[in-house]
Amino acid sequence: MKKTTIVMLATATLFGLSGCGNDTPSSSEAKVYSKTATEVYTQSCKKCHGDNAEGIVKKKAPALNDRQAGELELDLYDVKNGGTNQSSGTDHDIMEHNMQKLLDKGYDYDPKAMAEYIEKNFYKKDAPKAAVKIVKEAATEVVEEVKAVEVPTEVKETTEKVVKIVKEATTEIVEEVKAVEVPTEVKEVVAH
Ligand code: HEC
Repeated sequence: MKKTTIVMLATATLFGLSGCGNDTPSSSEAKVYSKTATEVYTQSCKKCHGDNAEGIVKKKAPALNDRQAGELELDLYDVKNGGTNQSSGTDHDIMEHNMQKLLDKGYDYDPKAMAEYIEKNFYKKDAPKAAVKIVKEAATEVVEEVKAVEVPTEVKETTEKVVKIVKEATTEIVEEVKAVEVPTEVKEVVAH
């Protein structure tokens, strides 16, 4: 790990622990990034992590809008530095590989700015909608897989029935998710 990285990590942890939102320029801000967090997100991260950082099941890219800036920032450091996820203890081999490619393409970013950008714009945004989208995507995959199975004609009819049942069940699940009563407090957070 580079010395500057250690300093940046330490600074981030200090600010995070003291809950201090101080914007005083520090040595960690000396690094110049050619793109803003917004640019990097829209030009790169978005295509895998989604319009609202809600995650895209097909790309196996997880949601980034389910945690607050402080925690997300640490995850971003992990991804950039090849560390282990602080909260889950999991490795991010795929994302680290992606990140290396992205860095090579000039998509470098300040993890703090990126974490704040994602929290400010996407935190828990459209949570019910995102849930519906994830259920739908997952269900579509299941249906496609069921359809792709090679079957003798006798079984085919049964398969079609199964597909129909799965589809109906999915529609019901989606309706149920949609029908969930969202408490006003949550709605406000979502609207924020
Ligand atoms: C080509 C698709 C792709 C792109 C582009 C991409 N990611 Fe990812 N990302 C993934 C996948 C797949 C994972 C899950 C596997 C892993 O963690 O290695 C992931 C995981 C992550 C994680 C860890 C999430 C967690 O729950 O701890 C973070 C943080 C992350 N990405 C941030 C970003 C940022 C920021 C960008 C833009 C600079 C970006 N990703 C661009 C595919 C992508």
